[in-house]
Amino acid sequence: MRRFGIALAGLAAILAAEACATREASAGSDPTNASPIYGVMIPAGYRRWELVAPALEADPLNELRAVVGNSIAIEAYRAGTLPFPDGTVLVKLAWKRAQSPEFEPASVPGAATTVQVMVKDSKKYAATGGWGFGRFVDGKPVDEAQHQTCFACHEARVRGRDYVFTRLAP
Ligand code: HEC
Repeated sequence: MRRFGIALAGLAAILAAEACATREASAGSDPTNASPIYGVMIPAGYRRWELVAPALEADPLNELRAVVGNSIAIEAYRAGTLPFPDGTVLVKLAWKRAQSPEFEPASVPGAATTVQVMVKDSKKYAATGGWGFGRFVDGKPVDEAQHQTCFACHEARVRGRDYVFTRLAP
């Protein structure tokens, strides 16, 4: 009986952790906020996630970017785990590059442009390297045509790093 109790407690912990990971990957319940093809949503709380690295995109986009990851992503980065485990979520925030009004040489974030999301689920997204993709403008997913481009570009350039461009910044 005692062993059964311990097993049950273990099972409950696993289920709770999974429920948590699922919620993290699909915050909110409005299906119109899910990306076409993949059904990926903007994850809750991502603004408090750890930074993976910033990036600067030249003209014509002229954007500042920041990639952040959930705890599963950050642990995998630190340990050098590839492929990234299921439950990994990476979010890329982007802003127009603006000049600091207080200090000319400095670039600072201007208007927000897009939020892009990659969610790892090796079974659900087996056809696209285990990754589900979502691109959002003002919180709403962009069209299906744009979502057809995601995996192709990531696959062509960074297949050997589990389709992820961004390295953990030193
Ligand atoms: C033409 C190539 C290209 C296409 C198409 C593309 N990406 Fe990316 N993506 C990149 C590059 C390059 C980076 C590295 C960061 C940067 O420079 O902005 C990146 C980074 C990311 C990241 C951060 C994780 C990583 O791999 O570094 C996410 C999330 C992401 N892209 C999502 C998407 C989504 C969603 C789509 C489709 C709507 C998409 N990408 C389409 C080139 C592309």
